[in-house]
Amino acid sequence: MKGVILAGGLGTRLMPLTRVTNKHLLPVYDCPMIYYPVRCLVNAGIDDIMIVTGGNNAGDFLMLLGNGKEFGLKHLNYTYQEGEGGIAEALGLTEHFAEGERVCVVLGDNIIEKNIRAAVEDFGEQKGGAKILLKKVPDPERFGVPVLDGKRIVRIEEKPAKPASGYAVTGIYMYDNTVFDIVKTLKPSARGELEITDVNNAYIESGNMTWSELDGWWTDAGTFASLLHANQLVADTGANKL
Ligand code: DAU
Repeated sequence: MKGVILAGGLGTRLMPLTRVTNKHLLPVYDCPMIYYPVRCLVNAGIDDIMIVTGGNNAGDFLMLLGNGKEFGLKHLNYTYQEGEGGIAEALGLTEHFAEGERVCVVLGDNIIEKNIRAAVEDFGEQKGGAKILLKKVPDPERFGVPVLDGKRIVRIEEKPAKPASGYAVTGIYMYDNTVFDIVKTLKPSARGELEITDVNNAYIESGNMTWSELDGWWTDAGTFASLLHANQLVADTGANKL
């Protein structure tokens, strides 16, 4: 399975912090934000990784990460997203890298405490389709929220005013290679983006989606409040170290 880290977008919710640098290069306690998704994949046993970046500071990723030696990698792949066309658009840019294989996708501003290795191995046993990781949160309306019927996932609603469950869909997604065909069918949402939630709903509709609950704490870091929270969590308890 290949790994994809999505670190494009313009980080407008963190202006002016993101005026002269990319959101994923900002510090989260003692490391740049991008270190955490790289560790998440490496700790899951995934060592063939592509980083999608964008904006004015793409070259800084190369200066910071190089070939990923610090993470025990021999090589890192990079690609560039123009503008902010959405998470699914950024994922679509990695089709040539995936070369028909499955992908484990991690959003560049998602930070986890523990390890996703077991979930990645479970997905490896799965015939195909997709797998997502859910986490109970106090503020599901900020995220993609699953509608559940018992254990069965019925659909996902993106940032619903009235969340149907107390779970967030975390930014860790596993897909078979048909994901790239699904991305090509998407239309921009009201916010002008190709939505990852539409990709996930396509898998749910075709009966090819599984989920499990993420172990340990999880946070995003794309707003001032969540960036502060991420710093505190990492400082207090550490995050997924190598
Ligand atoms: O963090 C999990 C949430 O991430 C999910 O629960 C939501 O369903 C999903 O839509 C997403 O929500 P956000 O609105 O918080 O995503 P955001 O726009 O902050 O983008 C998250 C990361 O995705 C960002 O750090 C970089 C990457 N990204 C985003 C966009 C819009 C790209 O690479 N390219 C993009 O065009």
